[in-house]
Amino acid sequence: MLDDAKAAEFRERGFAVVPGFYDCERDIVPILRGIHEVIGLVRSKHGLPAAPEFRLETFDEGYPELLARDRRYASEVYDAVKQIPAFVRLVTHPHHDAAFRRLRDGSLPGVAAGGYGIRVDNPGEERFRADWHQEYHAQLRSPDGITFWSTLVPLTSEMGPVRFCVGSHKAGMLRVVSRDAAHPDKTGAYGLLIENRDEVVARYSQEAPIPAPGDAVLIDFAVVHASGFNVSRRSRWTSQIRYFNFRHPVGVRIGWCGSFAAGRDFAAVHPELVADE
Ligand SMILES: [Fe+2]
Repeated sequence: MLDDAKAAEFRERGFAVVPGFYDCERDIVPILRGIHEVIGLVRSKHGLPAAPEFRLETFDEGYPELLARDRRYASEVYDAVKQIPAFVRLVTHPHHDAAFRRLRDGSLPGVAAGGYGIRVDNPGEERFRADWHQEYHAQLRSPDGITFWSTLVPLTSEMGPVRFCVGSHKAGMLRVVSRDAAHPDKTGAYGLLIENRDEVVARYSQEAPIPAPGDAVLIDFAVVHASGFNVSRRSRWTSQIRYFNFRHPVGVRIGWCGSFAAGRDFAAVHPELVADE
């Protein structure tokens, strides 16, 4: 599943696409069926007619209308789908432990509580788009963590695939400023901005792989990356599952605590990583 060349690629570049990491039929399709059911329930709750029967290619056909009616209806779907048992089974997929141990010598893998979910990036939405960032600041737990990223829908370049600064993990954790004046609506992890962001980003070549459903993109917690802009007409459904290392000394020191999503103030945990504004 993860040969020497792939492991070397991950260490060198800070991310790697592993084709066929999951079994689509067994691991992914049941999640899509669950999402289809949840969309149906939210539609019926708000008086909308039933969505079309489940079909693999169009499992989310009933979603755009919910989003168009009221963004809060779409949020109900968003909050619900990470609780679909088939998704929680994916979170604990044995390939995650195995890949983590392979890439982090001598580690003891942990699943980041609250560090897994299904993102829905809707066409034209900027507010929740993730600007250039490193995973660690929003997740904590341990700095040598790995995000297992995968897509639930076939991607196109118009859907805004994740862009990576190739090799940027080697610079370690970067300092951040805690507010983006241009986007006062972006709060929590979305409000963190890498210090001298444009200068940092310009140092690296960028890549935006287009993985298929069933592939996993393994992301080093220190590599700089950003969501692209979804300029397509379809929402981008993707899964993020984060693992950390119980044995990392920084993880031990901070008690494997989480960041914003866990109610912690990043600046209080890592004051040395926050620049003066
Ligand atoms: Fe990220």
